[in-house]
Amino acid sequence: MTLTPQEWHTRFRQQAQWTRSLRDYIFPRIGFDSARRILDLGCGTGALFDEFQSQSAASIVGLDIQRDHLRLASAHRNVFLTEGDAHQMPCASGVFDITLCHFLLLWVHNPVQVLNEMARVTRPGGTVLALAEPDYGGRIDYPPKLAPLGKWQTASLQAQGADPLTGRKLSGYFHQVGLKNVETGVLGGQWSNTPIPEDWRSEWAVLEADFAQTFKFAENLDVLKKLDAQAWQNGQRVLFVPTFYAVGWVD
Ligand SMILES: C[S@@+](CC[C@H](N)C(=O)[O-])C[C@H]1O[C@@H](n2cnc3c(N)ncnc32)[C@H](O)[C@@H]1O
Repeated sequence: MTLTPQEWHTRFRQQAQWTRSLRDYIFPRIGFDSARRILDLGCGTGALFDEFQSQSAASIVGLDIQRDHLRLASAHRNVFLTEGDAHQMPCASGVFDITLCHFLLLWVHNPVQVLNEMARVTRPGGTVLALAEPDYGGRIDYPPKLAPLGKWQTASLQAQGADPLTGRKLSGYFHQVGLKNVETGVLGGQWSNTPIPEDWRSEWAVLEADFAQTFKFAENLDVLKKLDAQAWQNGQRVLFVPTFYAVGWVD
């Protein structure tokens, strides 16, 4: 079972909601509204484009390796899209005021090379920004019976070639590529209600798709799915994945 590009788009938009507060904090500090050219690397289906366009008159460029994702992203007007590999971008040096990514670095095989590329295409004095990189090693699942979900997801990400511990490595990567005035942090979390049904279904669709590719947990999974729903209903459920950001400037 795999997700369709449209289902991924739903998921990406959901993730973008979780990380909104970080953008509200960081964008004013990096002059997002006065930037002239912004690159969104690993832009996927363009889940962040509406927000970018509402906050800046900059030219937005999106680059992604998956054509299916770019096809959905192309529904956005006035965004220049290009298919390519973040390790070796088909872009001239020093052209962007801000180069950013959102849930990308955990998926690439060489994050330092990608960050070097991000720094290369950013103008001197410009900003390199990793908006959201999770760290599944710090995932909290409560009640304890739901803990296997986190362990399986970590193992599943590893089996798919992702690095589930990217979050904690982010600061080191930014320093390694020579970015200046690096700031790193972790996004907080707030819960007041059960998730809206669409978000809960999307969370489970991703888990089930991940596990189906790598493991055969189907029988246990139904039990855990019911426990998860009950725990949300009775207010016990905690699901927290520390998600890191880092920002730095090109010399
Ligand atoms: C989790 S998605 C995030 C998409 C988007 N940034 C968002 O937050 O909605 C990761 C994206 O990175 C892209 N990607 C993975 N490896 C890549 C690479 N080496 N070069 C460019 N894009 C890549 C995938 O195709 C996918 O669209």
